[in-house]
Amino acid sequence: MLPMLPMQMIKKRWRCCYMIAISLTVRAFVVMAAVAMVLFFMTITVDTATKSSPVDNNNRNFMKSTTGNQTQPTITPPLPSKCLILLWAHIAIYVHRIPEHPSCGGGCNITTDRSRYEEADAVVFQMKTTTAGDLPDPRKRKSNQVFVWFTRETPWTSRYFYYKKLTEFDGYFNWTMTYRLDSDVKAVMMPFEVRSFFDNMQEKLQGQAANYFRAGFNSLTSPYKCEKNRLTEDDLRFNLARKKFLAAWAANNRDLTAGAKERFSIVQQLVQSGLKLDIFGKSGKKPKFMNSKQFYDTMSEFKFYFAFENGYHCQEYITEKVWFNSFYLGSVPIVWGPTKTDASRMLPPNSYIYYEDFSDPMELINYLKYLDQNDTAYLEYFAWRLVTPCYYPLHKVNDQKIGTSIFQHVSSWLNGFCELSKLIREGVHRRTSKSISSLKDLWYGRERNECLKEKVV
Ligand SMILES: *[C@@H]1O[C@H](CO)[C@@H](O)[C@H](O)[C@H]1NC(C)=O
Ligand SMILES: *[C@@H]1O[C@H](CO)[C@@H](O)[C@H](O)[C@H]1NC(C)=O
Ligand SMILES: *[C@@H]1O[C@H](CO)[C@@H](O)[C@H](O)[C@H]1NC(C)=O
Ligand SMILES: *[C@@H]1O[C@H](CO)[C@@H](O)[C@H](O)[C@H]1NC(C)=O
Repeated sequence: MLPMLPMQMIKKRWRCCYMIAISLTVRAFVVMAAVAMVLFFMTITVDTATKSSPVDNNNRNFMKSTTGNQTQPTITPPLPSKCLILLWAHIAIYVHRIPEHPSCGGGCNITTDRSRYEEADAVVFQMKTTTAGDLPDPRKRKSNQVFVWFTRETPWTSRYFYYKKLTEFDGYFNWTMTYRLDSDVKAVMMPFEVRSFFDNMQEKLQGQAANYFRAGFNSLTSPYKCEKNRLTEDDLRFNLARKKFLAAWAANNRDLTAGAKERFSIVQQLVQSGLKLDIFGKSGKKPKFMNSKQFYDTMSEFKFYFAFENGYHCQEYITEKVWFNSFYLGSVPIVWGPTKTDASRMLPPNSYIYYEDFSDPMELINYLKYLDQNDTAYLEYFAWRLVTPCYYPLHKVNDQKIGTSIFQHVSSWLNGFCELSKLIREGVHRRTSKSISSLKDLWYGRERNECLKEKVV
């Protein structure tokens, strides 16, 4: 028998809100129904896109949440007649059209055909493959076309692995598209379906919205009906029941970056100290390659997932290892890489284990053993899913219900491209003008020294 999820599980400070949330549900429903009726009879599309420049990241999502008690509808801005993104240098992205999904905004086509350069609204240059000797003809550059510098790697990796000085691009690019929150196009490596979830957390951090965790799930705008799609305690018990193994780590890069070397040595120490860890990928003995279905089916059987990044204390570097491989799988991430401050402001509370909180490998191992034996304590790491936005996808639980199978989109690339197409559809590139005077200062100059140290001690 699996234990029931007791009410105490929802921490004291949440409990009141949980009750309030429930009582508000009925009211919220009435309001939502009314809003839906009004919308239904409105025949005109309203463009609510805010007049903010891409630099002003605070206020540019057309899927705005409300700050309080009322739900607002999602309003899709009209599609421009064409919307084309050109990938200048090859990027291994597998879609040629950004999905037209309410959470994505999408609708732009993606091409790698350089002969379409002049038609393109945005030209995306990937850090790895872009060199000063292979750029578009400057005479054909149009002022309302955005050149976007794109990377998913850390400044460490671009500096010491790809040897990018970046000084050759002074004044060249208009926008950056990276996981960092100071980017013009925020390409956080999460399922785009939960983008507004993330934005709401950001608002909370900026103090612009009511504390959304306290407000509970009903305060959020969602294109989906929360009541229908939110996880239930049964869902969480189902998730627990499918956990057959303790901990998994999947990694291909064990020594290419200073961070990767460090994480590999930590993992080795843990294994030597007796941790029962299954290692997948090139760094381990298990299958080195699995397709995404095999990967997600296999990994969802583990209670803990080692979300160890390949960079140490790089600003806001939290990747798909957390957003897909752990949260989507319903495994508790053990986080190493980001600073504690970044982890606590970017991830839902009580959703992860932070490696550096433990003084030695044994302490962590004992804690994992404890959680393995105490289902109630383990399930506390899932409480956020009951009280925060209801639609964070959980593999084979609510991913089908949220409107689209996440399997079509198991790509941490897509969210960034969704954001880029949103900006283009809002016409931000036509209304504003911007160029990045020093990419080097921006990318390296604002990074922490800890991240950029050539060697991690
Ligand atoms: C919330 O409700 C109160 C009272 O019902 C109202 O005064 C306030 O404007 C509402 N806030 C929002 C954001 O709708
Ligand atoms: C995208 O491509 C499809 C097929 O190639 C085309 O029919 C459509 O008009 C394009 N859409 C935009 C917005 O450019
Ligand atoms: C199991 O975890 C719960 C919740 O954290 C705690 O209250 C309880 O004391 C734990 N039980 C044991 C036997 O440690
Ligand atoms: C992009 O940068 C170029 C070069 O600085 C500039 O001429 C152009 O106006 C910028 N375009 C936009 C849309 O910001």
